Amino acid sequence: MSREHVNLLASSNNKINGCIRVPGDKSISHRAIIISSIAEGKTQINKYLDSADINATIDVCRHINAEIVKNNESLTIIGNNLDRIQKEDIELNFGNSGTSMRLMMGVLSAQIFSSILSGDASLSQRPMNRVSKPLNNMNADIKTSNGMPPIFISPVDDIKNVDHKISIASAQIKSAIMLAGLYGRDPFTITTPKSRDHTEIMLNEFGCNITLESESINVMPSKLTSPKTIDIPGDISSAAFFIVGSIISKDSHVKIENVGLNPLRTGFIDILRMMGACIQISDLKRANGEIVGNINVESSELEGIEIPKDLITSSIDELPLIILAASQAEGKTSLRNAEELRFKESDRISSMVKMMKRFNISIDEFKDGMDVHGGIIEGNTVNSFGDHRIAMTGLLASLVSQGDIIVEDTVNIDTSFPEFIEMANNIGMDIKGYD
Ligand code: S3P
Repeated sequence: MSREHVNLLASSNNKINGCIRVPGDKSISHRAIIISSIAEGKTQINKYLDSADINATIDVCRHINAEIVKNNESLTIIGNNLDRIQKEDIELNFGNSGTSMRLMMGVLSAQIFSSILSGDASLSQRPMNRVSKPLNNMNADIKTSNGMPPIFISPVDDIKNVDHKISIASAQIKSAIMLAGLYGRDPFTITTPKSRDHTEIMLNEFGCNITLESESINVMPSKLTSPKTIDIPGDISSAAFFIVGSIISKDSHVKIENVGLNPLRTGFIDILRMMGACIQISDLKRANGEIVGNINVESSELEGIEIPKDLITSSIDELPLIILAASQAEGKTSLRNAEELRFKESDRISSMVKMMKRFNISIDEFKDGMDVHGGIIEGNTVNSFGDHRIAMTGLLASLVSQGDIIVEDTVNIDTSFPEFIEMANNIGMDIKGYD
């Protein structure tokens, strides 16, 4: 689904109410598609996220001979059983999707064809040597363009598994290594700070033996056997918009059903609770190794806090929303140790500081974070900096703004949450095209 309007106007209005289900988790959808594509057998993936980023992954998986059929809300994939594919050299465009590019670098480095990986203006500025270096240590042949895309991958005789020590807490780096390592023979260990563990969980579902010890991930390469069906939970990062929206606006109450609650993704809930937010979680169950449940949230009075360092990685994609919440809290909120935000779809420290200043919120920028002072958001025209999460955060600010908000350059919302505007309007917001 793609939208016709580049700029959007969100009318100043102050409540949302309803019971919703958000689209499938983006991170888990990528893993389900990639791992089904290299497994043996047929997998049906239910309720996957149908968005631009996921379509980038699907296109590339078809190049490694996975048979992928889209039906309504599900995908059927027949995998290639870890065959190292031989074919003509190819050029692959990953659009805006860093996860697709980084994870597929792991898979593509083991194939017997050369590939050139490129992306849009945002992806072309993102660091890729953090992935190419450990993969090259496994005998891969990857060249970057000054550490960034385009990336040139040449075939090698074999992938040689080695142990890794990775200091950056990044799910994409460790996932690329795990995926490449499946093509090697020996067991290996990745020692790295904890980050979302969807790849480890999904590989276990496909029968691969992965064990965890504190900060070490032990991988025993093996063939992958399809579990036949995978049910993707709702995306907690999409739910986060309505969770924060409901907290900051008056007389609001939102229930979100069947959402993924992996503890390495829910740091923002802990942060919001520390600030005083009223968030209830219920009906917990497991689906394909992931924790899933319902979330109930209502309008709350917030207080500024110092955001704990140990909650940064598990809230990394929701930190723009935490900054919006902090602008509605009493007093000052300090965010530090979050320099990774500078390497996302935009430099999210700079983007949020610029946006909040346009809203007349007092905010000070630091190398690794910011200080935000609670205040009144004034309506204004702001830019998304080509970043889906910044665009949606700007629109959400209309729930507390004194005047209407116009967000420019919003097409990238389709990369992760094409239904955002429709869902937001269904529960009480008023967002429309403004071109
Ligand atoms: C993702 C991991 C995170 C996150 C990104 C999605 C993933 O990045 O910010 O939006 O699906 O693996 P890191 O690789 O920095 O953990």
